Parts: sequence; C-alpha cells; structure tokens
Amino acid sequence: MPTCTINNVTCDFEEGQTILEVAQANDLEIPHYCWHPGLSVVASCRICLAEVAAPNPRNDGKIETIPKLLPACQTPAGDGHVITTTSEKAVQSQHSVMELLLINHPVDCPVCDQAGECGLQDYAYRYGHAGSRFQEDKIKQPKKDIGPHVLLYSDRCIMCTRCVRFTEEITGTSELMIDGRGAIESIDVFPGRALDNPMSGNVVDLCPVGALLDKDFLFTQRVWYLKSTPSIDGLTASGDNIFVEHNAGEVYRIKPRQNMDINRWWITDEVRQGWRFIQAEDRLLMPVIADSNAFARDSADEAWDVAESAALNGLQQAAHLATMVSPMLSCEDAWHVANLARAIDPQAVLGVGPVPYDGDDQTMQDGFVIRAEKAPNTRGVRRVLESFGGPVLEASGFEAALRKDDSIVGVLLTGNYPSQWVTPQFREAIGEGRFVVMLDTLPNSLTERSNVLLPAATWMEKSGTFENADHRLQSFQQAVHPAKWCKSEAQIAMDLLSQLRGEKPSVYCDAQTRVAMAEAGLPEMLHDVKHPRQEDVQTDSDMHLIVL
Ligand code: FES
Repeated sequence: MPTCTINNVTCDFEEGQTILEVAQANDLEIPHYCWHPGLSVVASCRICLAEVAAPNPRNDGKIETIPKLLPACQTPAGDGHVITTTSEKAVQSQHSVMELLLINHPVDCPVCDQAGECGLQDYAYRYGHAGSRFQEDKIKQPKKDIGPHVLLYSDRCIMCTRCVRFTEEITGTSELMIDGRGAIESIDVFPGRALDNPMSGNVVDLCPVGALLDKDFLFTQRVWYLKSTPSIDGLTASGDNIFVEHNAGEVYRIKPRQNMDINRWWITDEVRQGWRFIQAEDRLLMPVIADSNAFARDSADEAWDVAESAALNGLQQAAHLATMVSPMLSCEDAWHVANLARAIDPQAVLGVGPVPYDGDDQTMQDGFVIRAEKAPNTRGVRRVLESFGGPVLEASGFEAALRKDDSIVGVLLTGNYPSQWVTPQFREAIGEGRFVVMLDTLPNSLTERSNVLLPAATWMEKSGTFENADHRLQSFQQAVHPAKWCKSEAQIAMDLLSQLRGEKPSVYCDAQTRVAMAEAGLPEMLHDVKHPRQEDVQTDSDMHLIVL
C-alpha cells in the first residue's frame, strides 16, 4: 500500500485519494471550506493549501519541494510524498486567506445564529491572525428571503459555493447561482425563482458561515446551549439518521446525522420541519375518561391510575377485542401493546394502522431517496404483530373486521400521527356501541368518541427501534421528557398489564424489551438492530461540536 507523510504522520492511502481525504482518514486536520465529501471539488477557497515534497524522477527520485503550494482537497496523495500544512509558508498562506475572507465580513458574531458552530470563527482563531490591515469601508450586501425555509445574509458569505453545487449536483434544481465577479460577487437565486426544493434546508448545514440560515431556528436559541441526541426520522419510512437538538426539555431543531448507507449527509425539509407537532398547542396532554373529569385530579399519578383502571375494566368486559397498532410506533411499543391485547383476549384481532403515502419515491442525483411512505415503522410493527401468531390485518382489513364482526366489543387504538388520520369511514366503522380506548397525541374525530383517551409520547420523547423501507432496524434514543403527563405507548401498555396481573408496575426499558422480544421469537431485535455510534452520543459535558 502506498504511504505518504502528512505533518510528520505516516499515512497509508489508496490510489486516487486526495491529501485531504487521507488526512481525514487519519484524524489529521487540514482546514477546508469549499470541499465537502458529497460535492464536486472546486478548490476555490484556498484555505487547504499545503506544502508538498515529492520524489523527483529526473533527480534519482530525490524528495524535492514543489515550489507552489497545492490544494489538499484536489491534489491526489502520492507514494512517498511529504506534505505539511504547518510549515511557515503554509501557515502564512492560511493567514492570508483568513485575512482576505474577513475583509468584507461584518463580524456580527454576537447577533449571528451561526456563532458557536461557525467555520469562520473557528478557523479565524486557529488559522488566522488577530489584526486586519484593511482600512477601507466594507462592502455591504443585502439580506434576502430566498425560499420558504432559508434566509440569505450575503455579506457573511465566503463564496465557498457549496450551496450552489448542492442544488446543481444533488437536487438538480439549480436555483442558486454566483452573481457578479471579484469583490462584489455574491450568491443569489436566479431572477424570479426561490430556493424551493424538498431538500432546501441542507444548504444551511452546508454553509460553513452564517450566510444561509434556517428561518424557523433564527434567533430561537444559542447553539452552545443545545444538546444533541442521536435519533431516527420518525415521520417517514426513510430511516434517515438525525440529531434532535434540544435545551431544557424543548426541541429546537433537527440536523442530519451522517449514515452513508441511508441518508448520507442529508435530510429532507419534511423531516427537518415536520417534528413541530410535538409542541402543538392542541397536543393531548392528560388522560381523559368520557363523562368524567380526569382534569380535576390532583396529580398525574392519580389521573393515570383512574384512567388506566377505567380503560382496563372496559377492555376486560369486552368479549372480543380488536387492537390497531399505528405504524408511527416503535417495535417496542408495538410489542407491549400487542402483549397487553393478547393478555386481555388471547384471540384479540391485531392490525396495523393506516400507512400514509404521498406520491412516489423520489431519487436524488446522488441516490438519496425521498420516501413516499410517511410512516417510520410499518414493517417493524407488522413484524412484531406477526410474532404473536394469527393474521395481522392491514388498516382496510381492520376497518372491514369492525364493520362485520359484532363480537368485537372492545377496541384499543393507537395513533401518534403528525396530522389527522381518522377517516370518516373509519369513524363510522367504529360505531357507537363499542368500548374504545385510544392512545394518541393530537385530537381527531375519534378522541371525543373514545371512552378513555390516554395521551401518548412522540418518538422524540421515548426510545425504541424503527424498521425502515429497506428493512433496516435502527434504534433511537429519547431526546426530551414526554410533554406534561404523556407516556409512551409501551409504558401505558406495561402499566395496564401489571394492573391486569396484579403485579408491581415496572418502568419501560428499550434494551430489556428487545431482550424479551428476542426470547419471544424475534432474535433480530438483538442481532440486527443498529445503534447510534458512540461518537454521536453527546454527554452533558460535551461542547457543541461542529464538523465542517
Ligand atoms: Fe481546498 Fe477550498 S477546501 S480549496
């Protein structure tokens, strides 16, 4: 295998790798702005210039320094090359590049959303120098609203062009361009167009400075207060890896988490913005018993005790039970809910809730897939329900069973959809005579009809496992506590089951549940589940770190 030396560290590499790629593979830092592993190489920012010495075949292979500095992001590593970014010449070049980039930068860090995760701040500190020789007036550029999710603060831009290349090379929508030349060149949208594509928010992540900003996150939180919890997209069947970023129990934003097998570096705007229902004003927050006032209870524990007893009594009295497990639930939720249903009625009908679709799958130019299926765990829920034996009905079959089987007197429903999911036909199929227990997050036409309504936790408020459209099982961690008095469906089912059996209640644990599932005939819940990488798990003492 060929080897080279980067800043005195000997590195193996594969033919074709650039110096920057070799450095990154060996945990060596070479500063870079315009380079991104998912985009073409333009070598325009020049911050990565390195001094390279290579064997000269015309001088008996003697190692000689190449007079010009070379861009590490574009120059292939060569066998025997000696590369340095810490020599006087390379450091001088880094100082010059940083001085140039800061000439027209407004240095408005105290009011900039990017402060704390800004590549310009970080490199100015590490690769720049304190003074500026620039005496003239800075060129001022306008702030622009360039799309439904993104604002452009042009005078912070360093013209790395990552955003322009993203719209050309990944989404193929090409809304962005470089306008002008020299000191007055700037990024802009083409006249009459907006940055409006299903993945537009990724340009905010790609921007190494604070030029492109997320409208919904703007001025809401300083990033150094945010904690990141590794999670999985809980809205679609993609299984995209994400970070949930939160502070003091409140979620502020979603960021992509790199997974080269699934979402690479990207997420859709739908995933980035669609989580906000968890903080909806009309979120179901307390247990409710029809014709009773559970709100008057003194404490959450008392309200839950009363409501869970009412739910259990009603379901136990039903001769025959039907249970619908939503594809928005985790495998662990599904397992506990089905376990409860079959403990109450060993012949309980089991069904998977409705699976929302929106058009067809869309494949981006780099292979990233936007899934039409808008539920995170249809396959996982079905897999779990099948392990209980007997037929597992799809939503239409479940609805048909409700219409024709009068012996179904008790119905246990789960929802947890980000929007309205109960159709008039389904509401009608439920009818009036049955005892309905509903575990849900948002009000719908069945919440008022339910005999007992138990407020459920969203996926960010619990831990579990989702199986995506490609049958990949991935676990996710709990980011924030459940809203007000909400509980996960798994915990609610466990509480009801312990009441049913007269046992002491126990606390839900995703790992223990997976062990129990594996013992009950789902070994894949132990062997196939992919967990977040250790480096993605942030501890309380971690600073908010950025990866350019
Ligand atoms: Fe190499 Fe920009 S990162 S020139």
